[in-house]
Amino acid sequence: MPQPNAVKCLIVDDEPRLRRVLVRLLEGEGFTCAEAGSGTEALEVMRRDPVPLVISDLRMPQMDGATLLREIIANWPDTAVIVVTAVAEVESAVACLQLGALDYVAKPFHLDEVRARVMQALDKRRLILENRMYHQQLEERVQEQARRIEELSLERLQALVHFLEEKDTYLRGHSVRVANYALAIGRRMALPPQTIDAIALGAELHDIGKIGVKESVLHKPSKLTDAEYRHIMEHPVIGARVLAPLMRDAPAALAIVRSHHERLDGKGFPDGLRGDQIALEVRVVTVADSFDAMTSVRPYRPALSVQRALQELDQGKGGQFDVRVIEAFLAAFPDRAALPVPTPEVQPLHLPAFPLEAPRT
Ligand SMILES: [Fe+2]
Repeated sequence: MPQPNAVKCLIVDDEPRLRRVLVRLLEGEGFTCAEAGSGTEALEVMRRDPVPLVISDLRMPQMDGATLLREIIANWPDTAVIVVTAVAEVESAVACLQLGALDYVAKPFHLDEVRARVMQALDKRRLILENRMYHQQLEERVQEQARRIEELSLERLQALVHFLEEKDTYLRGHSVRVANYALAIGRRMALPPQTIDAIALGAELHDIGKIGVKESVLHKPSKLTDAEYRHIMEHPVIGARVLAPLMRDAPAALAIVRSHHERLDGKGFPDGLRGDQIALEVRVVTVADSFDAMTSVRPYRPALSVQRALQELDQGKGGQFDVRVIEAFLAAFPDRAALPVPTPEVQPLHLPAFPLEAPRT
Protein backbone atom coordinates (compact mmCIF):
# COMPACT_ATOMS: atom_id res chain seq x y z
CA MET A 1 0.00 0.00 0.00
CA PRO A 2 1.31 3.50 -0.77
CA GLN A 3 1.98 5.81 2.12
CA PRO A 4 -0.52 8.63 1.51
CA ASN A 5 0.73 10.90 4.27
CA ALA A 6 3.07 12.95 2.18
CA VAL A 7 1.07 12.81 -1.06
CA LYS A 8 -0.25 16.07 -2.51
CA CYS A 9 -3.42 16.10 -4.55
CA LEU A 10 -5.46 18.61 -6.52
CA ILE A 11 -9.26 18.62 -6.48
CA VAL A 12 -10.84 20.28 -9.54
CA ASP A 13 -14.59 21.00 -9.58
CA ASP A 14 -16.64 24.11 -10.36
CA GLU A 15 -18.94 23.29 -7.44
CA PRO A 16 -17.24 24.40 -4.19
CA ARG A 17 -19.46 22.09 -2.12
CA LEU A 18 -18.31 18.94 -3.95
CA ARG A 19 -14.69 20.09 -3.74
CA ARG A 20 -14.98 20.46 0.01
CA VAL A 21 -16.42 16.94 0.35
CA LEU A 22 -13.44 15.44 -1.48
CA VAL A 23 -10.92 17.67 0.32
CA ARG A 24 -12.28 16.62 3.71
CA LEU A 25 -12.17 12.95 2.70
CA LEU A 26 -8.60 13.08 1.41
CA GLU A 27 -7.27 15.27 4.20
CA GLY A 28 -8.76 12.72 6.56
CA GLU A 29 -6.56 10.15 4.81
CA GLY A 30 -3.46 12.30 5.33
CA PHE A 31 -3.26 13.93 1.87
CA THR A 32 -2.37 17.58 1.40
CA CYS A 33 -5.00 19.09 -0.89
CA ALA A 34 -5.06 22.02 -3.28
CA GLU A 35 -8.30 23.17 -4.91
CA ALA A 36 -9.18 24.60 -8.31
CA GLY A 37 -12.59 25.85 -9.49
CA SER A 38 -11.82 25.45 -13.23
CA GLY A 39 -9.47 23.73 -15.66
CA THR A 40 -7.51 26.95 -16.19
CA GLU A 41 -7.03 27.38 -12.46
CA ALA A 42 -5.97 23.72 -12.17
CA LEU A 43 -3.27 24.18 -14.81
CA GLU A 44 -1.98 27.25 -12.95
CA VAL A 45 -1.72 25.17 -9.76
CA MET A 46 0.10 22.41 -11.65
CA ARG A 47 2.55 24.87 -13.20
CA ARG A 48 3.31 26.32 -9.75
CA ASP A 49 3.53 23.03 -7.89
CA PRO A 50 2.85 19.80 -9.83
CA VAL A 51 1.11 17.11 -7.77
CA PRO A 52 1.06 13.35 -8.35
CA LEU A 53 -2.74 12.98 -8.00
CA VAL A 54 -5.55 15.01 -9.64
CA ILE A 55 -9.26 14.34 -9.10
CA SER A 56 -11.24 16.31 -11.65
CA ASP A 57 -14.89 16.75 -12.51
CA LEU A 58 -15.61 15.96 -16.13
CA ARG A 59 -18.29 18.57 -16.84
CA MET A 60 -17.09 22.10 -16.13
CA PRO A 61 -17.70 25.43 -17.91
CA GLN A 62 -14.97 26.80 -20.23
CA MET A 63 -12.43 24.00 -20.06
CA ASP A 64 -14.01 20.56 -19.63
CA GLY A 65 -12.40 17.68 -17.73
CA ALA A 66 -11.28 15.86 -20.90
CA THR A 67 -9.37 18.93 -22.16
CA LEU A 68 -7.78 19.40 -18.74
CA LEU A 69 -6.83 15.70 -18.74
CA ARG A 70 -5.12 16.03 -22.13
CA GLU A 71 -3.12 19.04 -20.90
CA ILE A 72 -2.06 17.28 -17.72
CA ILE A 73 -1.02 14.07 -19.50
CA ALA A 74 0.91 16.08 -22.10
CA ASN A 75 2.76 18.23 -19.56
CA TRP A 76 2.95 16.05 -16.45
CA PRO A 77 2.65 12.49 -17.79
CA ASP A 78 3.39 10.87 -14.43
CA THR A 79 0.27 12.36 -12.81
CA ALA A 80 -2.49 9.98 -11.70
CA VAL A 81 -5.80 11.49 -12.84
CA ILE A 82 -9.21 10.30 -11.65
CA VAL A 83 -12.25 11.81 -13.37
CA VAL A 84 -15.53 12.34 -11.60
CA THR A 85 -18.58 11.95 -13.80
CA ALA A 86 -22.37 11.76 -13.73
CA VAL A 87 -23.68 8.25 -14.28
CA ALA A 88 -25.02 9.33 -17.67
CA GLU A 89 -21.50 10.31 -18.76
CA VAL A 90 -19.91 6.90 -18.34
CA GLU A 91 -19.04 6.78 -22.04
CA SER A 92 -17.09 10.04 -21.68
CA ALA A 93 -15.39 8.61 -18.61
CA VAL A 94 -14.28 5.57 -20.63
CA ALA A 95 -12.95 7.93 -23.30
CA CYS A 96 -10.96 9.66 -20.55
CA LEU A 97 -9.45 6.31 -19.56
CA GLN A 98 -8.29 5.96 -23.15
CA LEU A 99 -6.73 9.44 -22.91
CA GLY A 100 -4.70 8.37 -19.89
CA ALA A 101 -6.90 8.81 -16.80
CA LEU A 102 -6.19 6.01 -14.35
CA ASP A 103 -9.80 5.66 -13.11
CA TYR A 104 -13.19 7.33 -12.83
CA VAL A 105 -15.80 7.75 -10.09
CA ALA A 106 -19.51 8.09 -10.91
CA LYS A 107 -21.71 10.61 -9.06
CA PRO A 108 -23.24 10.35 -6.61
CA PHE A 109 -20.19 8.73 -5.13
CA HIS A 110 -19.73 6.85 -1.93
CA LEU A 111 -16.76 8.08 0.10
CA ASP A 112 -15.43 4.56 0.65
CA GLU A 113 -15.48 4.02 -3.08
CA VAL A 114 -13.54 7.27 -3.72
CA ARG A 115 -11.01 6.27 -1.07
CA ALA A 116 -10.53 2.85 -2.68
CA ARG A 117 -10.21 4.33 -6.21
CA VAL A 118 -7.64 6.85 -5.05
CA MET A 119 -5.51 4.15 -3.41
CA GLN A 120 -5.79 1.95 -6.50
CA ALA A 121 -4.85 4.82 -8.80
CA LEU A 122 -1.78 5.66 -6.71
CA ASP A 123 -0.82 1.99 -6.65
CA LYS A 124 -1.18 1.82 -10.41
CA ARG A 125 0.93 4.97 -10.80
CA ARG A 126 3.65 3.54 -8.57
CA LEU A 127 3.72 0.32 -10.60
CA ILE A 128 3.90 2.28 -13.87
CA LEU A 129 6.83 4.36 -12.56
CA GLU A 130 8.64 1.28 -11.19
CA ASN A 131 8.09 -0.55 -14.45
CA ARG A 132 9.46 2.38 -16.44
CA MET A 133 12.50 2.66 -14.18
CA TYR A 134 13.08 -1.09 -14.51
CA HIS A 135 12.98 -0.84 -18.30
CA GLN A 136 15.28 2.18 -18.28
CA GLN A 137 17.79 0.32 -16.13
CA LEU A 138 17.44 -2.76 -18.33
CA GLU A 139 18.02 -0.65 -21.42
CA GLU A 140 21.08 0.97 -19.83
CA ARG A 141 22.44 -2.47 -18.96
CA VAL A 142 21.87 -3.72 -22.50
CA GLN A 143 23.56 -0.60 -23.92
CA GLU A 144 26.47 -1.06 -21.52
CA GLN A 145 26.85 -4.69 -22.63
CA ALA A 146 26.69 -3.64 -26.29
CA ARG A 147 29.38 -1.01 -25.63
CA ARG A 148 31.55 -3.60 -23.91
CA ILE A 149 31.12 -6.05 -26.81
CA GLU A 150 32.12 -3.28 -29.22
CA GLU A 151 35.14 -2.44 -27.06
CA LEU A 152 36.21 -6.07 -26.97
CA SER A 153 35.79 -6.35 -30.73
CA LEU A 154 37.83 -3.16 -31.22
CA GLU A 155 40.54 -4.47 -28.90
CA ARG A 156 40.66 -7.62 -31.03
CA LEU A 157 40.90 -5.54 -34.19
CA GLN A 158 43.75 -3.49 -32.69
CA ALA A 159 45.48 -6.77 -31.85
CA LEU A 160 44.84 -7.93 -35.42
CA VAL A 161 46.41 -4.74 -36.84
CA HIS A 162 49.49 -5.26 -34.70
CA PHE A 163 49.66 -8.91 -35.71
CA LEU A 164 49.42 -8.04 -39.42
CA GLU A 165 52.11 -5.40 -39.06
CA GLU A 166 54.30 -7.71 -37.05
CA LYS A 167 54.41 -10.28 -39.84
CA ASP A 168 54.97 -7.55 -42.45
CA THR A 169 58.52 -6.26 -42.21
CA TYR A 170 57.68 -3.11 -44.13
CA LEU A 171 54.71 -2.11 -41.99
CA ARG A 172 56.04 -3.09 -38.57
CA GLY A 173 55.06 -0.51 -35.94
CA HIS A 174 53.41 1.76 -38.56
CA SER A 175 50.05 2.21 -36.82
CA VAL A 176 51.57 2.93 -33.41
CA ARG A 177 54.00 5.48 -34.84
CA VAL A 178 51.22 7.15 -36.84
CA ALA A 179 49.08 7.30 -33.69
CA ASN A 180 51.98 8.82 -31.73
CA TYR A 181 52.72 11.48 -34.36
CA ALA A 182 49.01 12.28 -34.75
CA LEU A 183 48.47 12.55 -31.00
CA ALA A 184 51.46 14.89 -30.66
CA ILE A 185 50.01 17.08 -33.45
CA GLY A 186 46.52 17.02 -31.92
CA ARG A 187 47.82 18.01 -28.48
CA ARG A 188 49.96 20.76 -30.00
CA MET A 189 46.80 22.10 -31.70
CA ALA A 190 44.98 21.91 -28.33
CA LEU A 191 42.19 19.82 -29.87
CA PRO A 192 39.37 18.81 -27.49
CA PRO A 193 39.70 15.47 -25.63
CA GLN A 194 37.03 13.69 -27.70
CA THR A 195 38.88 14.63 -30.92
CA ILE A 196 42.14 13.37 -29.42
CA ASP A 197 40.40 10.07 -28.58
CA ALA A 198 39.08 9.80 -32.14
CA ILE A 199 42.61 10.45 -33.48
CA ALA A 200 44.11 7.74 -31.24
CA LEU A 201 41.58 5.13 -32.34
CA GLY A 202 41.36 6.14 -36.00
CA ALA A 203 45.16 6.35 -36.40
CA GLU A 204 45.70 2.95 -34.91
CA LEU A 205 43.11 1.30 -37.15
CA HIS A 206 43.52 3.46 -40.27
CA ASP A 207 45.14 0.79 -42.47
CA ILE A 208 43.13 -2.22 -41.28
CA GLY A 209 41.53 -2.44 -44.73
CA LYS A 210 44.87 -3.76 -46.05
CA ILE A 211 43.60 -7.13 -44.85
CA GLY A 212 41.58 -7.06 -48.08
CA VAL A 213 44.52 -6.15 -50.35
CA LYS A 214 46.37 -8.93 -52.18
CA GLU A 215 49.79 -9.50 -50.66
CA SER A 216 51.36 -9.73 -54.12
CA VAL A 217 50.21 -6.14 -54.75
CA LEU A 218 50.99 -4.86 -51.26
CA HIS A 219 54.58 -6.14 -51.51
CA LYS A 220 55.18 -5.61 -55.20
CA PRO A 221 58.78 -4.44 -55.49
CA SER A 222 58.23 -2.43 -58.66
CA LYS A 223 55.91 0.19 -60.09
CA LEU A 224 52.23 -0.62 -59.74
CA THR A 225 49.93 -0.82 -62.73
CA ASP A 226 46.88 1.45 -62.64
CA ALA A 227 44.67 -1.52 -61.73
CA GLU A 228 47.01 -2.51 -58.89
CA TYR A 229 47.10 1.04 -57.59
CA ARG A 230 43.29 1.21 -57.63
CA HIS A 231 43.19 -2.15 -55.82
CA ILE A 232 45.54 -0.99 -53.06
CA MET A 233 43.62 2.23 -52.69
CA GLU A 234 40.47 0.29 -51.88
CA HIS A 235 41.84 -0.28 -48.38
CA PRO A 236 40.23 2.84 -46.79
CA VAL A 237 36.80 1.72 -48.03
CA ILE A 238 37.36 -1.89 -46.96
CA GLY A 239 38.56 -0.72 -43.53
CA ALA A 240 35.56 1.57 -43.03
CA ARG A 241 33.19 -1.24 -44.10
CA VAL A 242 34.76 -3.73 -41.66
CA LEU A 243 34.69 -1.26 -38.79
CA ALA A 244 31.33 0.46 -39.39
CA PRO A 245 29.23 -1.99 -37.30
CA LEU A 246 31.71 -1.71 -34.42
CA MET A 247 32.18 2.04 -34.50
CA ARG A 248 28.63 3.37 -34.51
CA ASP A 249 29.60 5.49 -31.49
CA ALA A 250 32.88 6.65 -33.02
CA PRO A 251 32.00 8.29 -36.36
CA ALA A 252 35.04 10.63 -36.24
CA ALA A 253 37.46 7.71 -35.89
CA LEU A 254 35.63 5.86 -38.66
CA ALA A 255 36.01 8.93 -40.90
CA ILE A 256 39.77 8.80 -40.30
CA VAL A 257 39.85 5.20 -41.54
CA ARG A 258 37.83 6.02 -44.67
CA SER A 259 39.39 9.38 -45.54
CA HIS A 260 43.07 9.25 -44.53
CA HIS A 261 44.09 9.29 -48.23
CA GLU A 262 41.98 12.32 -49.11
CA ARG A 263 43.75 15.54 -50.17
CA LEU A 264 42.73 19.16 -49.63
CA ASP A 265 42.86 19.76 -53.40
CA GLY A 266 40.26 17.04 -54.02
CA LYS A 267 42.69 14.64 -55.74
CA GLY A 268 42.63 12.03 -52.99
CA PHE A 269 40.83 8.74 -52.35
CA PRO A 270 38.21 7.34 -52.07
CA ASP A 271 35.66 10.18 -52.25
CA GLY A 272 37.68 13.06 -53.71
CA LEU A 273 36.74 15.24 -50.74
CA ARG A 274 38.23 18.73 -50.72
CA GLY A 275 38.93 21.50 -48.21
CA ASP A 276 36.55 21.65 -45.28
CA GLN A 277 34.87 18.44 -46.37
CA ILE A 278 37.84 16.72 -44.75
CA ALA A 279 37.58 16.81 -40.97
CA LEU A 280 40.52 18.28 -39.06
CA GLU A 281 41.22 14.99 -37.24
CA VAL A 282 41.48 13.26 -40.63
CA ARG A 283 43.99 15.88 -41.86
CA VAL A 284 46.06 15.33 -38.72
CA VAL A 285 46.29 11.57 -39.32
CA THR A 286 47.01 12.11 -43.04
CA VAL A 287 50.14 14.14 -42.21
CA ALA A 288 51.27 11.63 -39.55
CA ASP A 289 50.65 8.71 -41.92
CA SER A 290 52.47 10.33 -44.84
CA PHE A 291 55.48 11.23 -42.71
CA ASP A 292 55.78 7.68 -41.37
CA ALA A 293 55.29 6.19 -44.84
CA MET A 294 58.04 8.39 -46.27
CA THR A 295 60.53 7.65 -43.51
CA SER A 296 59.87 3.90 -43.74
CA VAL A 297 61.47 1.49 -46.15
CA ARG A 298 59.05 0.15 -48.74
CA PRO A 299 59.60 -2.86 -51.06
CA TYR A 300 59.85 -0.43 -53.97
CA ARG A 301 61.96 2.38 -52.45
CA PRO A 302 64.34 3.25 -49.60
CA ALA A 303 63.35 5.28 -46.56
CA LEU A 304 63.62 9.03 -46.95
CA SER A 305 65.67 11.01 -44.48
CA VAL A 306 63.69 13.05 -41.95
CA GLN A 307 64.93 16.21 -43.66
CA ARG A 308 63.72 15.04 -47.06
CA ALA A 309 60.36 13.85 -45.69
CA LEU A 310 59.81 17.24 -44.07
CA GLN A 311 60.57 18.90 -47.42
CA GLU A 312 57.93 16.69 -49.05
CA LEU A 313 55.41 17.69 -46.39
CA ASP A 314 56.32 21.33 -46.93
CA GLN A 315 55.77 21.01 -50.68
CA GLY A 316 52.36 19.45 -50.04
CA LYS A 317 51.15 22.35 -47.88
CA GLY A 318 47.76 23.61 -48.99
CA GLY A 319 47.42 21.08 -51.84
CA GLN A 320 47.76 17.73 -50.13
CA PHE A 321 48.15 18.74 -46.50
CA ASP A 322 46.70 21.30 -44.08
CA VAL A 323 49.22 24.09 -43.39
CA ARG A 324 48.20 24.34 -39.70
CA VAL A 325 48.71 20.61 -39.22
CA ILE A 326 52.19 20.71 -40.75
CA GLU A 327 53.11 23.66 -38.53
CA ALA A 328 51.81 21.84 -35.45
CA PHE A 329 53.81 18.76 -36.47
CA LEU A 330 57.03 20.80 -36.77
CA ALA A 331 56.31 22.55 -33.46
CA ALA A 332 55.57 19.23 -31.71
CA PHE A 333 58.99 17.83 -32.74
CA PRO A 334 61.40 20.80 -32.65
CA ASP A 335 64.32 18.41 -32.24
CA ARG A 336 64.21 16.51 -35.55
CA ALA A 337 66.75 14.01 -34.28
CA ALA A 338 64.28 12.98 -31.58
CA LEU A 339 61.61 11.97 -34.10
CA PRO A 340 60.80 8.31 -33.47
CA VAL A 341 61.24 7.20 -37.10
CA PRO A 342 61.44 3.48 -37.87
CA THR A 343 64.84 1.82 -37.81
CA PRO A 344 66.02 0.87 -41.31
CA GLU A 345 66.24 -2.82 -40.46
CA VAL A 346 65.20 -3.92 -43.94
CA GLN A 347 66.48 -2.79 -47.27
CA PRO A 348 64.23 -2.23 -50.24
CA LEU A 349 64.53 -4.67 -53.07
CA HIS A 350 65.25 -1.76 -55.42
CA LEU A 351 66.59 1.65 -54.56
CA PRO A 352 65.03 4.13 -56.99
CA ALA A 353 64.80 7.84 -56.31
CA PHE A 354 61.73 8.92 -54.33
CA PRO A 355 58.95 9.40 -55.24
CA LEU A 356 58.37 6.80 -57.89
CA GLU A 357 54.62 7.27 -57.83
CA ALA A 358 51.90 8.48 -55.54
CA PRO A 359 52.85 7.44 -51.99
CA ARG A 360 51.70 3.96 -50.99
CA THR A 361 51.32 4.12 -47.26
FE1 LIG B 1 46.51 3.89 -45.81
